[in-house]
Amino acid sequence: MCGIVAYLGHRRAHEVILKGLKRLEYRGYDSAGIALLNGGLNIYKKKGKVSDLEQSLQGMSLDCNIGIGHTRWATHGEPNDVNAHPHYSGSKRLAIIHNGIIENYTALREDLVNKGHTFLSETDTEVLIHFIEDVQQRNNCSLVEAVRLALHSVIGAYAIVVLSLDEPNQLVAARKGSPLVIGVGKNEYFLASDATPIVEYTNEVVYLNDREIAVVNNDGLTIKTVEDIPTTPYIHTLELALEAIEKGGYDHFMLKEIFEQPRSIRDCMRGRLDAKSGRLVLGGIRDYVDAMANAERIIIVACGTSWHAGLVAEYLFEEFCRIPVEVEYASEFRYRNPIIRQGDVVIAVSQSGETADTLAAIELAKERGAIIIGVCNVVGSSIARASHAGSYTHAGPEIGVASTKAFTAQLTVLNMICLLIAQKRGTISQELFQKLLTDLEQVPARVEDILKLNDQIKVIAEEFKDVPNFLYLGRGYNFPVALEGALKLKEISYIHAEGYPAAEMKHGPIALIDENMPVVFIATRDSSYEKIVSNIQEVKARKGRVISIVTEGDDWIPNMSEFTIEIPMVHEALMPMLSVIPLQLLSYHIAVMRGCNVDQPRNLAKSVTVE
Ligand code: G6P
Repeated sequence: MCGIVAYLGHRRAHEVILKGLKRLEYRGYDSAGIALLNGGLNIYKKKGKVSDLEQSLQGMSLDCNIGIGHTRWATHGEPNDVNAHPHYSGSKRLAIIHNGIIENYTALREDLVNKGHTFLSETDTEVLIHFIEDVQQRNNCSLVEAVRLALHSVIGAYAIVVLSLDEPNQLVAARKGSPLVIGVGKNEYFLASDATPIVEYTNEVVYLNDREIAVVNNDGLTIKTVEDIPTTPYIHTLELALEAIEKGGYDHFMLKEIFEQPRSIRDCMRGRLDAKSGRLVLGGIRDYVDAMANAERIIIVACGTSWHAGLVAEYLFEEFCRIPVEVEYASEFRYRNPIIRQGDVVIAVSQSGETADTLAAIELAKERGAIIIGVCNVVGSSIARASHAGSYTHAGPEIGVASTKAFTAQLTVLNMICLLIAQKRGTISQELFQKLLTDLEQVPARVEDILKLNDQIKVIAEEFKDVPNFLYLGRGYNFPVALEGALKLKEISYIHAEGYPAAEMKHGPIALIDENMPVVFIATRDSSYEKIVSNIQEVKARKGRVISIVTEGDDWIPNMSEFTIEIPMVHEALMPMLSVIPLQLLSYHIAVMRGCNVDQPRNLAKSVTVE
């Protein structure tokens, strides 16, 4: 979480930085700030959104060509003006922006306090910049050397950029555990948490590696490790288009991303799947298909929506590959001394590729001999780079904090991986393999059909927008969809919602049901159809308000439901890619009608780079 941007070049630094921070607001939006060398080292910062900061800067003379900026998701200290970044050093001759957490900041702070330092904020970041200055003064060295030496004593995660009044044409940056991308323009440099603030200026970028320090100044870009070993910057060419990170006429990124799904799912399959010829190729895991097919078990680690995609994959892999699968919350997995055997396959699912818990989980599994396969959306992200092999989801940038198109793209990739392994193991008939390829290829067109139900779903949203609670129930492949539907609603509308396996309802949630409780049943035609009909009757018998997602042509469940949404038929293994779409739209409309900030829900961040 937290987004950082820095600029050195010939443009007006504050303009580049503020625009970049707006692009990074998905990473946090508790406060924002910038530091500029505009006739002194000046910091301007404010609680609230980047637009609040921008407003407060109206009429000020900010012109200069170098600066740093930050948009915050609070970890240490409440969101207020003082805790906002950037932070000054003790002498106010250095300023820093930081994304991450300095775990040993209390010890560092104590030492500094004993030396007479006083701190204005409660942040770990202010401690870090005081510490860097202390190191610089003690060693009488350059800023870059002070940063390098200081980082030897720092435990935790960081992406930092430091600006100095005494070395005014230079930015010093470093990373460990939090992302940092450097855009290389013509005599100008852009540093940011991801490429979105950079893409409109240059498509040449360098991804800084962990424990590397970068310096940009009039002589160019140089990189060395914390151990003082110079490295050669490797320049990647970005394929990101500017339109992909703008709203394109939609009111919100979330709505745009929901409606993009036919395209994003197609993009995900492009060049990989051709049902007609029975062709299925995933270049990124080609050399690991044998290892996966021979695995005695597969462990899937993920968080949030990506964890829900992992749950669907459990059903898929067990059904078609006949390999036991465990799906783990990355945060639980990494802290409980898990049993991992040589040759176990760990699949990390992550939209951002930066989620700290998922990253730490795969590092642990890798140390213990597992093969790591990454399923990430962001190209070049930390998880993608820490994996032995992987398949990108190619959904394009997802900006709305609530994940939508990343989920369906993850399911697309996981389906393709599953089919490749099943084919290799001979656990799927050629006929079924072919049927699933054909159905998968048609998913984008079926999603298009479902998106046409948008107005119908709006009517349902209007009816339920003021309720305090919601229950989502599904069985089999639709159980993870129930979880995802509930998560979407609570994330963006702040209505309490729970997802449950429909059959578990009788062990608890049934007590909640009365004439005020809306219950969303994901009840498409599949192997547990009759069973879920009984669950609907149980809810009806207690006067619950039933909203059902059914397969087209169902003439039974609609009679038991107050509202019904009919979606097309596909093989049940692929149904989550369709059944989730109405739930995304339902939560979107309810949140808009409640006046909530859909793209930036309170307290959340899109990329959770803290533990
Ligand atoms: C945050 C986001 C969720 C996301 C989760 C996992 O909580 O708000 O939308 O599902 O992190 O993120 P990842 O990038 O690893 O998929």
